Amino acid sequence: MPSSRFATPSTMITALTRNAGIEVPLICGAMYPCSNPELVAAVSDAGGIGIVQPISLTYVHGHEFREGLRYIRRLTSKPVGMNALIEASSRRYHERMVEWVTIALEEGVRFFITSLGNPRWVCDRVHAAGGHVYHDVTERKWGQKGKDAGVDGLIAVNRRAGGHAGPKSAETLLEELGPLGLPLVCAGGIGDAPDFVAALRMGYAGVQMGTRFIATPECRASAVYKQAIVEADEDDIVLSERITGVPVAVINTPYIQRMGLKAGPLARWMLRGHRTKHWMRTIYALKSIWQLKRSSLDETGAKDYWQAGRSVAGIREIEPAGGIVKRFRDAVSG
Ligand SMILES: Cc1cc2nc3c(=O)[nH]c(=O)nc-3n(C[C@H](O)[C@H](O)[C@H](O)COP(=O)(O)O)c2cc1C
Repeated sequence: MPSSRFATPSTMITALTRNAGIEVPLICGAMYPCSNPELVAAVSDAGGIGIVQPISLTYVHGHEFREGLRYIRRLTSKPVGMNALIEASSRRYHERMVEWVTIALEEGVRFFITSLGNPRWVCDRVHAAGGHVYHDVTERKWGQKGKDAGVDGLIAVNRRAGGHAGPKSAETLLEELGPLGLPLVCAGGIGDAPDFVAALRMGYAGVQMGTRFIATPECRASAVYKQAIVEADEDDIVLSERITGVPVAVINTPYIQRMGLKAGPLARWMLRGHRTKHWMRTIYALKSIWQLKRSSLDETGAKDYWQAGRSVAGIREIEPAGGIVKRFRDAVSG
């Protein structure tokens, strides 16, 4: 008898589908700046779950937070989730995140994905409302920390992921995190239906994709960015420290080649200092928020920081988000 954490191929019922109240164990991960309401809603409406990235919703796509959630609700009645980046580096940011989580709960969101920091306060609030919290991790020690804080599942971010990739493979993460006894979601490197089926067969309770969902008509990213994803191969993905100070997976465009991949000497020196590292991180956070917004929407593609993971290998065309969810679902049951 297989463990209930794992997918039953014919029905696709997993711990993730039960916890999130969805039909297909497929998450459209939070993406700054690419998570726009129409994309989130399209994935949820097709039976997966789209995750709202609050800074993307408000700063990039111009919605007041509550109004943005209500707009998504008008596009779909199915469950949507929210990403809470809970690094407590600034008190103002923390207060803003607490407010966003509170509003999301009031607006009926019951599935949350936390990243960084200690997710205990999110778990307390979300569990009190009958919801579930999954926590992004790149290795076992963060998984243990999440489990101690009460999370219901872990998103295992592997080394092929877009955004801030982890150091380990999907196989290693499954082995390391499996003994914690929580449902595991595979994040990174899944670009096509056979990869999705393989992850479920390996024992993952679901898959979180980012890059694949950028190359969709619903995503508001520029046409040149989407086309670059379609044309890129696995070897075109490099890790750049120049955007946030820690490695981020990007397409190796001529602009990236000109800029180099390492942080500059002043930034490196500041990141090493005990006091200066906090300033440097704040400078990076503000700079990257602005820079990534511009890069994702700029149709000229002249100064392009195009984030994408190694899943580009399986992405060959721009395809509606709902069609992707359906195709992946059919690949499991077919
Ligand atoms: C453009 C882009 C932006 C991302 N931004 C975030 C983010 O704001 N918060 C987060 O938790 N993960 C972020 N991620 C990670 C995704 O949620 C997801 O885990 C990852 O994309 C999975 O790998 P894949 O791109 O190979 O599918 C981002 C990924 C991409 C590609």
